[in-house]
Amino acid sequence: MKVGIIGCGTMGSGIAQVAATADCDVIVFDVNKEALTKSEAALVKILSRLVEKGRISSEKSKAIEEKISYSDQLTDFKEVDFVIEAIVENLEIKHKVFKELESIVGGDCIIASNTSSLSITSLAACLNNPERFVGVHFFNPAPLMKLVEVIPAIQTDTMILEKAKSTIDDWGKVSVKVKDTPGFIVNKVARPFYGEALRIYEEGIADVATIDWAIKSIGGFRMGPFELMDFIGNDVNYTVTETVFKAFYYDARYKPAFAQKRLSEAGYLGRKSGRGYYNYAEGAVNPIANEDQKLGEEIVDRILVMLINEAVDTLYLNIANAQDIDLAMTNGVNYPKGLLVWANDIGLTNCVEALDKLFDLYHEERYRCSPLLRKMAKDNQTFF
Ligand code: NAI
Repeated sequence: MKVGIIGCGTMGSGIAQVAATADCDVIVFDVNKEALTKSEAALVKILSRLVEKGRISSEKSKAIEEKISYSDQLTDFKEVDFVIEAIVENLEIKHKVFKELESIVGGDCIIASNTSSLSITSLAACLNNPERFVGVHFFNPAPLMKLVEVIPAIQTDTMILEKAKSTIDDWGKVSVKVKDTPGFIVNKVARPFYGEALRIYEEGIADVATIDWAIKSIGGFRMGPFELMDFIGNDVNYTVTETVFKAFYYDARYKPAFAQKRLSEAGYLGRKSGRGYYNYAEGAVNPIANEDQKLGEEIVDRILVMLINEAVDTLYLNIANAQDIDLAMTNGVNYPKGLLVWANDIGLTNCVEALDKLFDLYHEERYRCSPLLRKMAKDNQTFF
């Protein structure tokens, strides 16, 4: 298969590597010649590290390099079968590129976007043949993260969707099908991981170190929410939350936190600026976790039940099926367990009771229990 990648920044370069590793011929196009040179140089470095570590042979490394060509001319895409766009997150600019692309590629070429936040339907709408358009959302770093969310637009032909999905599976990825909804699965379902942690912190129930400790050592997550926000960047994480909040017509469940906004305004962006919730300067004094088991369990239970509620509501609204929701969270953000399986383990009635307790305490929409969770608990059902 001949694959075209548009934009060779962080994501485009990673996706090109994935496709070439799976033996596809890949052409990478970018308007910025310097970006092309950088991408090629970065790939050579990554491949030689993989060879050093014994992950791939030097023959395979050479083969991958030879599979990828670089171009600053979109007209080189005449023969491609599958194009994935990964340029700047701007609807007008993406539309302009897709229209030009459609005039170059053949009628059977599938056109896909790696967008995180734009509606796939709104992107497809600019094409003469929008049935050929689909969303394929990779995670950063694309060569390492297994998950790809595949999102049909309202206009997408089912055959195109299935072809895109099976191609991505052939590339060794775990693909899940998602309805065209803000945040898709992962960036929607993961919101309470940050939001509820921030709420607990803002209320003064625990400091960031204690919440991170609890989530890791009791919850079994790889990183605590504050460490993770510092890693992602508080500007980036805040923007995702605000985008999802606005896109869901200001649903209180996704309300951003002032604590994060202020950090972002102060330039305390996390690791990349040397300071976020934690101070990364050498010798800096950081808060020490209060390793109180009871407090830790309360923190984990609260964040977890909010995550479970979001996962169940995603199922309730038919955004994805139960299996794909759990696959998305374990493969896209490395959760230790799928949230729906976790709900079964905790007991659905216990989840409902915990949510109702929070709702009784705060009387905020944010803590409303998903109707599906309540119904399934009442009927003694479990997921799967
Ligand atoms: P980036 O800023 O690293 O790279 C974008 C590249 O596109 C640059 O090399 C730029 O020169 C090129 N470009 C801009 N306008 C262009 C045009 N008109 N024609 C051709 N090339 C053009 O961006 P990044 O982070 O790789 O993101 C790309 C897309 O992937 C965005 O839609 C983003 O929402 C999405 N995404 C990003 C993730 C991330 O963690 N960075 C994760 C998943 C999706």
